[in-house]
Amino acid sequence: MDKLRVLITHRQIAAKVAEMGASITADFAGEPVVLIGVLKGATIFLADLARHIQLDVSFDFIAVSSYGNAKQHSGVVRLVKDVDQSLEGRNVILVEDLLDTGLTLVYIKNLLQAHQPKSFKIAALLDKVSRRSEPIHADYVGFVIPDEFVVGYGLDFAGRYRNLPDVCVLESDSDRA
Ligand code: PRP
Repeated sequence: MDKLRVLITHRQIAAKVAEMGASITADFAGEPVVLIGVLKGATIFLADLARHIQLDVSFDFIAVSSYGNAKQHSGVVRLVKDVDQSLEGRNVILVEDLLDTGLTLVYIKNLLQAHQPKSFKIAALLDKVSRRSEPIHADYVGFVIPDEFVVGYGLDFAGRYRNLPDVCVLESDSDRA
């Protein structure tokens, strides 16, 4: 049986997401923004963040395959679902649950910048800074976390635990890193 240890409570998350929304609202000063959620992990964060942005907000979603059910990044990112509309001339905010090695975001950033948006920013709820192998950072970061396997608030292990309100460390005797 998996053992879960709460790392960040739903109250801490709610307060931080409200702060991030306020920062985005201030930075874009009345301009419209499009939030691009990276499926599936970012869905819950995007839903909460969007409600704290007091601007004209629209959504789109992108899906890539990199980890699958594996613990280690395959090193190869494959596009599973592209955005539905052109992002040319728009203020794009890429919304991610977790920034880890950075391989996924570098791939998505290159893909989206080809649309020639007016601006491009990244909002990541969690940042495992110590794991970064790529030269990329988020403009809006919720929490810098240690290199532990986390689930909840959108993050999964083999499809499970995305619905947990808190971000939890999944502890077990197996080889989870
Ligand atoms: C997670 C997360 C990021 C990616 C970050 O996605 O949502 O997309 O890994 O890792 P990286 O910085 O090392 O590239 P995952 O592949 O677990 O898919 P999911 O969002 O569907 O859970």
